[in-house]
Amino acid sequence: MLKANHLHFGGDYNPEQWPKEVWAEDIRLMQKAGVNLVSLGIFSWANIERSEGQYDFSWLDEIIEMLHEGGISIDMATATASPPAWLTKKYPEVLPVNFDGVTLVHGGRQAYCAASEVYRTKAAALVEKIAERYAKHPAVVMWHVNNEYGCHAPYCYCDQSKKSFQDWLKKRYASIEDLNSSWGTDFWSQRYYSFDEVPVPSRTPDGTHPNPGQQIDFKRFSSDVTLELFKMERDIIKRYDKVNPVTTNFMSMKFTYAMDYFEWAKEVDFVSTDHYLAQHDPHNYIDLAQQADLTRGFAKGKQWLLMEHSSSAVNWQPRNYAKTPGQEKRNSMSFVARGSQGAMYFQWRQSQAGSERFHSALVPHAGEDTRVYREVSELGALLKAHPDISQYETDRAEIAMVYDYEQFWALMQANMPTEDLSYPETVATWYRSLWESGLRVDFVHPDATAVELSQYKLVLMPMVHMLSDKQEAEFSNYAKQGGNLVVGYFSNISDRTLRVKLGGYGGQLVKELIGVYVEEFYPLRPDQTLKLTNGLEAKLWSELSRLNGAELVASFSGSDVDGSVAIAKRNLGSSTAWYQGTELTLESQKKFFSGIAAELGIKSEGSDHAEVVHRGPYRFEIDHKANTVSITKH
Ligand code: GLA
Repeated sequence: MLKANHLHFGGDYNPEQWPKEVWAEDIRLMQKAGVNLVSLGIFSWANIERSEGQYDFSWLDEIIEMLHEGGISIDMATATASPPAWLTKKYPEVLPVNFDGVTLVHGGRQAYCAASEVYRTKAAALVEKIAERYAKHPAVVMWHVNNEYGCHAPYCYCDQSKKSFQDWLKKRYASIEDLNSSWGTDFWSQRYYSFDEVPVPSRTPDGTHPNPGQQIDFKRFSSDVTLELFKMERDIIKRYDKVNPVTTNFMSMKFTYAMDYFEWAKEVDFVSTDHYLAQHDPHNYIDLAQQADLTRGFAKGKQWLLMEHSSSAVNWQPRNYAKTPGQEKRNSMSFVARGSQGAMYFQWRQSQAGSERFHSALVPHAGEDTRVYREVSELGALLKAHPDISQYETDRAEIAMVYDYEQFWALMQANMPTEDLSYPETVATWYRSLWESGLRVDFVHPDATAVELSQYKLVLMPMVHMLSDKQEAEFSNYAKQGGNLVVGYFSNISDRTLRVKLGGYGGQLVKELIGVYVEEFYPLRPDQTLKLTNGLEAKLWSELSRLNGAELVASFSGSDVDGSVAIAKRNLGSSTAWYQGTELTLESQKKFFSGIAAELGIKSEGSDHAEVVHRGPYRFEIDHKANTVSITKH
């Protein structure tokens, strides 16, 4: 739990990149801009442990005192994000090995294998020193473990990883036979007789891919083995500091998927996340809102903080467009409205050298007399003016959408009915269609119980491909007990080991609860659209199906499956369940959802370009066309 009763404002501070003369100037500019928190030491390992076991904390001691005297609090990093060159030179087994068996070298960042024993030992020793030294320092108010775990080498295929994967499988499966039947290894002679025969799913002969169960388990393992690293560091810190909260920054972005943040969020004291815009996308504020809502979903009642975003351009996209005047204020306040305990940035001062020298910062290369510094200073003042926002939670939405990294992992595999399926795109289209209809949404994991789901009038299930029997029963009970449900196509196709549920696709949920019998997939050509019988427009997907108790809303027409069910619904007494057997275009998805919301009396506020979000007594209205932000309190 964060101790502050104000909103946090500041960013990554990397004083080691600058001569000491600049530090005093940094403090002055931080104070002027209203900065109250900096993340310190994230990439400082090489500057702290200059050779094995030789630590130099003098520069860190000095800057910590300066910040403290300047009234600026510290999010203290553990500095383990990038091992120094001496370490990987002496212990090359620390380096990660990629899918093709190539060892990745030092010189970028994050060049370590999460399963490496040497990395663990060396990182633990460093964290011990840092925690021991700074735990009681009054300026330190939170801990920042490592940085963006899994950003650059989330999957390692080295021998140590293979061994750890086998150990992980031993714990997951009751026996090797259990693994064989879950993965279906009688296909292609993949049967294993002992766990130490199981390889990591790296490159296989051309045109073949590793077993689907093996692939998804390796993704689960990779998230778990990395989470172990976090827990190791956290537990060391906790021995020295029982007061300040410990976090690590997630990457809540549409196409980052390697870590299962629903699982990770259970282990942090508060959730922190980073978010960067696809600036070429004129509707990127909708993705931002989605990722903020998703982060609130991981946090599940815990506090959360936007730990890093950019004041203007990033430097890692093909074309790095600057933010337009006023955009940054809209972006930050959208995060705050959705529950963030402030707005933090990468980074305080724009680097003069190194890979990120063209990435924006709070103090740009051009200095203090700049649009960026002026705008962020205005934001600092705005956040300071409303400290009590931090005391409230964002109001619960009436609609919940199911989100799950494991679905992403399942659906990104090869050998699917069509390569055009995209879990993140479908989720984004569903989310955007709600956003543009003024409908707010919370995200929930498929492990949510019927009781938890019952807090929502409507639950949406976009492409929830795998469901365990228990999960299926919870969704079904939610609907039977008065909750309204929309199940999207290609949902509940498999159990959580990717074994297909037989006897009609969509399992009991689609076949029995809603009453649609789906027998065969008919993916569409990439450029093909179909007009459904109710006028809505479909793309990517159709299927051969028939009613099995549901009421037809629309069928496919002009297709190979004319007359098959595109949309159906079932009146369950006090609730309704819908099946959407296709991908709808954005406009059609909007019509479909706003019709349902109107039928269920769900409140809508805002417009297709302005969002209205409530956080306790605060009402935020952010208009992305008029470029205005209004914050009112009642
Ligand atoms: C993330 C990282 C930072 C920096 C930025 C660049 O936030 O944590 O170190 O690389 O991305 O956008």
